[in-house]
Parts: sequence; C-alpha cells; structure tokens
Amino acid sequence: MRGGKTPSRAVPATLPGLASASSASAPPRHLPPEAHLPQLQQALLAWFAAHQRPLPWRVNYTPYEVWISEVMLQQTQMERGVSYFTRWMARFPDVAALAAASEEEVLRLWEGLGYYSRARHVLAAARRIMDRHGGVFPAALEDIRALPGVGPYTAGAIASIAFGEKLPCVDANVERVVARVFDLDTPVKQEPAASAVRAWALRLVPEGKAREHNQAMMELGALVCGKKPRCGACPLAAFCISLHLGIVDQRPVPGKRTPITPIEVVTGVLRRKDRIFVQKRLASGVWGNLWEFPGGRVEPGESPEAAVVREFEEETGFAVAVDSKYGIIRHGYTTYKITLHCFALSLAGADGDLEEAPDPPVLTAASAWRWAPPRELEDLAMPAAHRKLADRIFAADAPRRLPGA
Ligand code: ADE
Repeated sequence: MRGGKTPSRAVPATLPGLASASSASAPPRHLPPEAHLPQLQQALLAWFAAHQRPLPWRVNYTPYEVWISEVMLQQTQMERGVSYFTRWMARFPDVAALAAASEEEVLRLWEGLGYYSRARHVLAAARRIMDRHGGVFPAALEDIRALPGVGPYTAGAIASIAFGEKLPCVDANVERVVARVFDLDTPVKQEPAASAVRAWALRLVPEGKAREHNQAMMELGALVCGKKPRCGACPLAAFCISLHLGIVDQRPVPGKRTPITPIEVVTGVLRRKDRIFVQKRLASGVWGNLWEFPGGRVEPGESPEAAVVREFEEETGFAVAVDSKYGIIRHGYTTYKITLHCFALSLAGADGDLEEAPDPPVLTAASAWRWAPPRELEDLAMPAAHRKLADRIFAADAPRRLPGA
C-alpha cells in the first residue's frame, strides 16, 4: 500500500436491512455472505479473471489512464467512454501533454460527454501535477483528493485501481450488487443504506487485491447484476440474500425519482454571406466556455419565433429577422429535457445592407464572438444540441432540414 491513510470506518455489527435476512431459515445451498466473506471474494475474483472486458486502461494501469477513464465513465456508457478515452490518449498520452493543451482543445475532445466542468477540472489537475508534483501522478490519497475535481469516488478509484490501496469504489453498479447480496431494504442513495453500502464495499475488499476486486464489483454490476439481473450467471448467487429470499427484483429499493423538467428553448443561426455568428459562453454556469449559436428560453405565452428575435437582441444587440425554421432538436439531460427550436436568421434593418459583417453592439451572455466560416465550427467545442444543429445544416451530405420542421 502506498501513501495515504486507511479510513478507520467501523462496519456496524448488524447492518441495516440484515435483520430480516439473518433470521430467515436458509435453504441448503445458501451461504450467508457475512459468514463466507473469503469464499465470496474468491468467487468474485475468479469470475473477474475469466469475464472482465479488455478495456484500454486495464493494460498498464497507469494512474493517468485510470484517472481519465474514471472521470470519463461518470454518467457515460462504457462503449462511449472507451472511444473517447482512446481518442484522448492518442492526443494527450500523458499528464505533461494534457497540461500543455489549451482549454479550447480539451473541451473539443470532451465534447459530447457533457458535464464540462469535469474537462476543465482535469486540465487544471494536470497543470497542478506538473507544478506541485514534478509531473508525477501523486500516490498519496490526500494528494489525489486535493486535485481539482477529484471527489471521494474518483480518489478511491485511483488509489485502489492504480495504487492498490484498500479503499472501496462505490458507484451505482456497486450499490446494486451490495443492496442485493446483503439485502439492504431502504434506498441506497439515502441513509441508513448509503453508509451500509460504503461499509460493506470496504469490508469486502480483500487484502492486496483492491485493484481487481473493485473493478470486479463494478463489472459484475454492469454485466450480470444489472437492472435485469442474470442470476444464473452470477458468481455470487450462492451468497446473495435477496436471491435466496426471492426478492432480487425488489432490490435495490427505489429512491425518490428526480422529476425531469421540460424546457422550451430557441436558437438562431445568423448568417452573413458565408459566415455564421457564434459566441463563447461565459466561464461560469452550464456549458461554460463552449461556443454556441445565441438563444435562450421561450417565455410563457411567447412564440418560439418571437423568443429567438428577443434573445438575439438581448444577447448581442443585433436586430434579426427569422428567415425559416430548421426544425426542432430534443435533448435529454439528467434533470431536464430540452426542446430546442432552431431558426435561420438574417440581420434586419440597416445592418442587413452592410458590406462587412458588423460587430455585435453588446455581448451580455458571452465572453467572445466570431463570424465563423462553417468549416471552423468543427474546431469549436459546442453543446451537443448545437453540434447536432451545425452538423445537420453544414455537413455536406446531411439533410438540410431537421425532423419536426
Ligand atoms: N466503471 C467505472 N470504472 C470502472 C472500471 N474500472 N471497471 C468497470 N466499470 C467501471
């Protein structure tokens, strides 16, 4: 074990949710997990050795690769994560290459993964590793935890998977596995079950095998103990209390669902001869520092056409006219879903007659602007919905109009 402190978290003698299970009479082949921890750990490790996916960061296990993969995989499907990871490593093979990059380029490579503060944090952390750790990824848990954007999950993942520290990694997959094996009967994201999950996740880590074990737990949750579990293929079936009780489908207990808020927004592609007006969003807030076509929310009772004219005027001072509607793009986020009405615009009034593309009279929602030829949009990091719009309008072989036009 290198560096860092081992947390002194005590596992409660009786964990929440275990009372009913421990009093249930076990049929012959059930092996109650708490009494069979070494066998359970062994079964899991053997399964992982045979069934793990060949992922690119599982070759050398460099701290840099483990770190980037863990940050990318948050809120991202594995297949997508692997393709972003591969592209990233081709461009930024090590901490020094990343630290030397511009934020613009980092955001462009991150584009489509969402949660762009993660990309900005990763860049800031790489620069900090260069400045304070001589370019060597720190091994001590407190140093890892002090890196920008590194929370308890990511720190635990790096410390255990890259450095072999006996620490747990608790993601949604692990929560599901623990909730089922130990039959936790309250929602896993809330107390008391959240502490029980962490305590079991730590207690389950075998000495000297943190790397394999933590990944095995996540892999099992992803491949076998998913939302629709395949208990027939599970190496932990013999130990699983909720399987034994016939209530796997009731574990984990669902928590409160965050309501998804629908939002109506508009955006306008303002063209001036062969150039398009784009602006760089302010550093703070969602999509900070990404480039976009101006726009904003539709007010109650307002038409999308009126909204795009108003928003454009407010954000840039340009008076614009709607030429046509490209269509609608729908995009889902964690807690809201947007309906984006997309318009083709031109300058209205006297500006429309100018030979040169004029500067915007004001800029209220952005830090920079550009009249860009369409091919330049390729190099700018844009929010997913705006990229979709740009691709649909400007990609040579793409249909000119969006569905819903
Ligand atoms: N999810 C996040 N990190 C993972 C890993 N290293 N293996 C499997 N699933 C993961």
